[in-house]
Formats: sequence, structure tokens, C-alpha cells
Amino acid sequence: MVSQADNSNGKNANAPKRAPEKGGPKKGGRGKGDTRRVAGAMLAAITRGKTLDEARDRLSDLPDSERNLADAMVQMALRHYGEINALTSKHLKRALPLRPHIAHGLLCIGVAQLVYMNVPAHAAIHETVAATGRREQPFRGLINAVLRQIERDIQADGPPSPTPLENLPDWMQARFEAAYGREALDTIVTQHTRTPPLDLCFKMPEKAAAFVAANDGAEALNDTHVRLERSGDVRALDGFKEGDWFVQDVAAGYPARLLDAELRQTSTPETPATVLDLCAAPGGKTLQLAAAGYDVTALDISASRLARVKENLKRTKLKANLVRGDALDWQSPKQFDAVLLDAPCSASGTMRRHPDLVLNRHEGYIAKLAEFQQHLLERATGWVKPGGFLCYAVCSLDPEEGEAQAQAFLAAHDDFQVVSPQNLPAHLCHEKAFRSTPADHPLAQSRYLGDIEKGGMDGFFAQVFQKTGA
Ligand SMILES: C[S@@+](CC[C@H](N)C(=O)[O-])C[C@H]1O[C@@H](n2cnc3c(N)ncnc32)[C@H](O)[C@@H]1O
Repeated sequence: MVSQADNSNGKNANAPKRAPEKGGPKKGGRGKGDTRRVAGAMLAAITRGKTLDEARDRLSDLPDSERNLADAMVQMALRHYGEINALTSKHLKRALPLRPHIAHGLLCIGVAQLVYMNVPAHAAIHETVAATGRREQPFRGLINAVLRQIERDIQADGPPSPTPLENLPDWMQARFEAAYGREALDTIVTQHTRTPPLDLCFKMPEKAAAFVAANDGAEALNDTHVRLERSGDVRALDGFKEGDWFVQDVAAGYPARLLDAELRQTSTPETPATVLDLCAAPGGKTLQLAAAGYDVTALDISASRLARVKENLKRTKLKANLVRGDALDWQSPKQFDAVLLDAPCSASGTMRRHPDLVLNRHEGYIAKLAEFQQHLLERATGWVKPGGFLCYAVCSLDPEEGEAQAQAFLAAHDDFQVVSPQNLPAHLCHEKAFRSTPADHPLAQSRYLGDIEKGGMDGFFAQVFQKTGA
């Protein structure tokens, strides 16, 4: 056990000397421009409520060459946040405070490098301790001592055994285990510790097939989605400049695919079906529906997020009518052949891509979100033509936002009935709805609990309803 009292004077004989801290970004120096310091500050900001995307603003303090490393450290610390805190707690009498300094963030970044990133021990320890500033001074010796102790333990006994369940808050564990069972939960939390593969959604199946044929390691997941195990800079991939594809997890593609399967039966190029994408930004589903030839209206409350839809449409050379509005009070001049409601939700299905979500979600939030989703669904019903379709989707693993929400909707609306999903792999179809978790794989024939290396898919729920009458 290393105690703060033993080491807080910063005079630990093993502690590396810290270069003087001066203000302003300094490439390769200590202070604002130091990679570990920026990573520690990002993690600290996230523990205090910022999202990973917001915390990424700090990367601009670093030279380009260091940004990926700092980002990777933060992501790794977030993916293993519970395991890291459990490990450090064995060596601390008291957990390090989360504020007002970044000592806790730096310690986590140090452990992430030592245990999960294969950074040589001397660099992981020395550079992390040297990244402490004046405010962390009382904890400098302690950070050094804990990191050295963990390194000694690794030398003696090997790296700690993975315990990925510790990274998920208890309330999420309980809810996901009740929904999917213990075996699936174990696979889900293991997938959360891994960087997910890159999935591309192609506008045209022929382009997807040609891409797979031309690129080693590219795997077709269905006729529009292709998976790459290594990503790198997506702008360098074939077809980026031409706008042939956009980045979209395969699971996120299914809601629009389900709707497309219904609409294509009556839609023609001369009179394309009209679709309202109700919470549209950043626009993945709008792009899919526009690529399938529909007349799409994309509504979102956020101007900045709608600007991203516009950019995405421009790059992919697709068209949609963009509307900024609040779905709770927007007045539509007409009804549509279909409405897609990809509702705001806890986003717990996207934790592989947003590892910060474990830190800023709370159980009480789920019931509030479910109420909001119910209001949005209610609004959506009025915009569907008689005989038209409503697709309800959420990127959540929580049944309260998915299955239970859809059941409550059906119970309250006898003018809507469930449509049997078409073109959906059988193992992703549950009670006439699409349900995926990171423990699934689009190509596996049964619930996917096996080959972790192949990568799973985001957690999603989607169901299509048809309005009676014509
Ligand atoms: C899950 S995201 C949608 C993702 C999108 N469908 C896609 O595939 O890229 C939810 C979106 O709902 C929007 N939103 C939240 N409240 C809204 C409201 N009251 N009216 C309209 N849009 C809203 C958010 O701005 C956000 O862009």
C-alpha cells in the first residue's frame, strides 16, 4: 500500500525531475503542450462531465504528431476505467480527488500505458510523472510510487487478469444482464474494451462489392455495409473523394434498411416515396434513404448538427430537404409515406465508439429519456399517411427505451400494427423487431458470443409499424 502521506512531499527518490512548467503550448516540452498532460487533462474533464468530443478541444494544444497518441491514451483509460480504478485502489489508502487538479487523470493515463498499451515502463512512468504540474505537486510522488508498484507487480506476476465487467456501472450491469443474460453481458463488456472496426455504408451495392474485391481485409456485412479491421485516415480510402460511402456502424444501417424494404414496393423514380427523418443529424439514415431514391425531409433541432448533415449530403452528392425544428412543436405542411424516428436516447449501444458514456450516464436519466421518446412518438403518428409506415429506433441497449417503448406504443395506438421485418438476418430479429448488441455479429447465424476478434456491432433497436387505412 502506497499512502499519500508517505509520498505527497514529491521528494520520492525515484521520482523523475520535472522540467519547469511555463505557460503556452510547447512542442515536446512540459506543460500545456505535453502529450501526457493533455491526455490527463482530457480525462479529468470527462470525469467532471464533459464528453470525449468536447474534451478533444484540448488536442489542439499538441503538435499533429502527438494528437493520436494522447487520444489513444484517453480512450484506453476510459475503456478500462473501472479496472484501472480497482487496480490503483489496491495501492492507495484513499482514491485521488477528481478535482481541482488532474492528478487522478494522470494516474489513470499512466496505468493505461503500462497495462494496456505496451508503452515501455520507463517511458510510461517517467513521462507521466514528469507531466505533473504545480497543482499536482502534492501527488507527484504518490503517482510515481503507484505506477512503479504496478510495474513491479507486472514483472513478478504478469499483467492483471481482465475483469471488464468492472468498467460498467452496477446499474447498467443489472439491466443488461436481465435483458440479455450473463454470457452476452460478458461479451458486451469485453467488446467495450476493444477499439471497434470501421464500417462503411455504400450508396450502391455494386460499389460495395467492387470495394471488397479491391481491398484485402474488407468484409461485406450485407449488400451495402463493408467492414475494415484497420482504419487509419478514412479520407485515404477508395471512394472517399467520390462520395461512394459514409461511415456508419452496420447496426445503425438496419432501421433505414427495414423501412426501405417496405417503401420500395410502391415507390417509383417518377413519384418517389416521401420520408420524414425526424431526428436526423448527423444524417446517416438520411443519406441511406436519399441514396435509395426517396424524397427525404431531414428535421433536427440542432443547427450545428444539421450543418453536418448538409456537409455529408454534399460529399456524397445526395439531396434532402433540411429543416431546423423542434419535433415537439414543429408543424408539418403535409403527411409522409414514412416517418423514421431515431430518437435521442442513452446511446448505451454505442459505448464501443463512445467509451466516455460509462462516466456520464445515470439510471434516473433512462426514465426521463423514455418519457421524451414517448412524446416524440406521439408527435410522429400525426405525420404518417394512412397506410404509411413509422420506424422507431434507438441506439440503446436498454429495453425501457427500445422493446418496452415499442410495446407501450402499440398498446396505446390501435391504428398502428407491427410489420414483419424483411431482409433482416434471423438472429437479429426478435419478436418482429431488430435488436443488436455488441455481442452480435451481422453474419453469425445465432447470437454471436464467440470470436471477439471479429468485432461485434452497436446495440440498436428498431421496429416498423404501419398505419391502418389507405
Ligand atoms: C440519435 S441522434 C440521431 C442520429 C441520426 N438519425 C443519424 O442516423 O445520424 C438524435 C438527434 O435528435 C436530435 N433532437 C433532439 N431533440 C430533438 C427535438 N426535440 N426535435 C428534433 N430533433 C431533436 C438531436 O439534435 C440529435 O441530432
